[in-house]
Formats: sequence, C-alpha cells, structure tokens
Amino acid sequence: MTSEAITVLGLGNLGRALAEAFLRGGHSVTVWNRSAAKASELAVGGAVVAPTVVEAVASADLVVVAVLDHAAAREVLRGADVRGRALVNVTSGTPEEAREMARWAAEQGAEYLHGAVYAVPQTIGTAESSINYSGSSAVHTRWREVLELLGKVTFHGDDAGRASGFDVAILSAMYGLLGGFLHAAALARSSGIEVAELTPPLLSWLADLRPALVTFAGEIDSGSYAAGESSLAMNQTGLGMLLRATRAQGVPFAALESVKELVDRQVAEGHGTDSLARAVESFEAFRRFAVRE
Ligand SMILES: NC(=O)c1ccc[n+]([C@@H]2O[C@H](COP(=O)([O-])OP(=O)(O)OC[C@H]3O[C@@H](n4cnc5c(N)ncnc54)[C@H](OP(=O)(O)O)[C@@H]3O)[C@@H](O)[C@H]2O)c1
Repeated sequence: MTSEAITVLGLGNLGRALAEAFLRGGHSVTVWNRSAAKASELAVGGAVVAPTVVEAVASADLVVVAVLDHAAAREVLRGADVRGRALVNVTSGTPEEAREMARWAAEQGAEYLHGAVYAVPQTIGTAESSINYSGSSAVHTRWREVLELLGKVTFHGDDAGRASGFDVAILSAMYGLLGGFLHAAALARSSGIEVAELTPPLLSWLADLRPALVTFAGEIDSGSYAAGESSLAMNQTGLGMLLRATRAQGVPFAALESVKELVDRQVAEGHGTDSLARAVESFEAFRRFAVRE
C-alpha cells in the first residue's frame, strides 16, 4: 500500500486507536486533540502533532474525526478549510446529524463519509472490528484500502445518514435487550432465583428466538402478517400475565407496558389472529416511511 498522509482529529480512546492503526499500516499520520497532552503520547509512536485543527486539516487529504458527539465535531471543524478534503467522521450521532454534516461539507467543497463503529478501541484493526459507512462513494472507493486498516468496511450507499440509521436501530435493540435483562434479573431475584442461575436457560431461549426475528422481518417488510404462529391475541394474554407478575413481585417495568400497548392496539383493530410482528404497525409513523431501496 502506498504511504498516505492522514489526519486524525480527536484522540480519545477511539481516535487514539485509529491513529495507531494508521501508523501500523505505514502511513504518515498527523494528529490533533483539544487537550494537547494526549497528542504528545502519540508523537512517541511516530505521529506528527499539529498545534491547531487548521494545520492538522491542511496536512492531509484524508481527515478522520473521532470526538465525543456531533456538537463537538461541528465545533472542531468550524473554521478549518476542508475544501478538497475527504472527511470521514466516525463520531456517533443521529442520521439527521450525519446528513447535516454532509450538507455542511458539500458547502465547503469537501467530500463526506460517515462511519458507525462496531468495535471497542482494543479491537480496532483486528477481525473483530467492523465499521459501517455511508455518504460519499468517491471517498469510500478512494480510501477503502486505508479504512480497512481499522476493521471490516461495509458501505451502505450515498445517504450519509444511512450508516447511523443502522446504528440507532441496532442500539435500540441492544438497549431493549439489556434493559430486558436487568428487569429479568430483578424479577428472578424477587422469586428467590440468583441471576447466575437464570442466565443459562435465558441464553438458550434467546438463541432459539433468533430465527423468529428473520421471520418477523419478512412479515414486516412485506406487510403480510396472516401466517403468524405466535398470534397477537396469544401474546396479549401472555403479556397480561407477565404484567400481573411484575406488579405482584414489586418490579413493574414501563417498557413492558409499552410493548403490551402496541399489541393491544392491533388486537382492538381486529387483528388478534395475525402474527405478533404486526404490533410494529402501532407505531404512528411506521407506515409513513417507505423502504428506500
Ligand atoms: N470507545 C468506544 O468503544 C467507541 C465505540 C464506537 C463508537 N464510539 C464513538 O466514538 C466517539 C469517540 O469516542 P471515544 O471513546 O474516543 O470518547 P472519549 O475517549 O471520551 O474521547 C472524547 C474525545 O472527544 C474530544 N472532545 C470532546 N468534546 C470536545 C469539544 N467540544 N471539542 C473538541 N474535542 C472534544 C475529547 O477531547 P479532550 O481529550 O480534550 O477531552 C476526546 O478527544 C464517540 O462519538 C463514541 O460514541 C466509541
């Protein structure tokens, strides 16, 4: 691989790991961080420390941004001349924030690629690291080989918000699962069950449930819910029992009440024999969004 000039803005845990991966790949890396001490540590590894963002951006064609949040990324880039640069921003944010950055970059004459990181700093540059990108296909094509130094590259098309669209959906499922686990732990404890006893049968049941998500996805995307083996009416009864148990055991959980409300609404509209997946239709906005591809 040809040695390239790359700038990394932001040397928190993630930014530092990115800069180190580029250095290991034999590239010439310029770094900048708001607090200068973190940048000096990387100088030891061979990076050039830029005193200002303006100088850091001027040093490379590829500028990678990894700061705390969208507001910080905007603040860091404000005032820098990014014209002609390939900007790759792996700062977490909402889909709309990514699109706003892409519009701003276009106004400045820069190309913008947004990245959503599925890795922890320790796994950057290993087979366990994966980054979803969307936005400029020119940046993706030109810099793909270099970006592969960070982890597996998946490109999701030219809508800069799409990578974050995957990200927020996956995070919602993750926190739903983690919140469900915490509630399960409280419920188990209130029945005299240790959480360590609960975990093996729970993990086994979750593994069995995985194919159901694939079935539900097909039903939701096609809008045909008639073939459901797990009907809304049956789940309504099951959720009713579960809510009674949570109250009786002193650990009510609003998230479960919300799930039952989604189910209740579909049953009330006469769809009790349809698949549980139909509960997604209870989200007011769901039908307004057509699938883009
Ligand atoms: N760490 C992970 O496992 C991981 C995984 C996936 C995605 N991410 C995402 O990657 C981004 C960075 O994460 P991280 O773990 O590196 O965070 P971090 O260790 O907390 O570092 C935050 C960085 O942002 C900088 N910063 C904060 N506010 C700033 C501002 N107003 N102006 C300029 N710089 C500012 C900090 O500078 P100072 O040093 O001066 O405070 C620091 O360099 C986040 O959006 C995070 O969600 C992280």
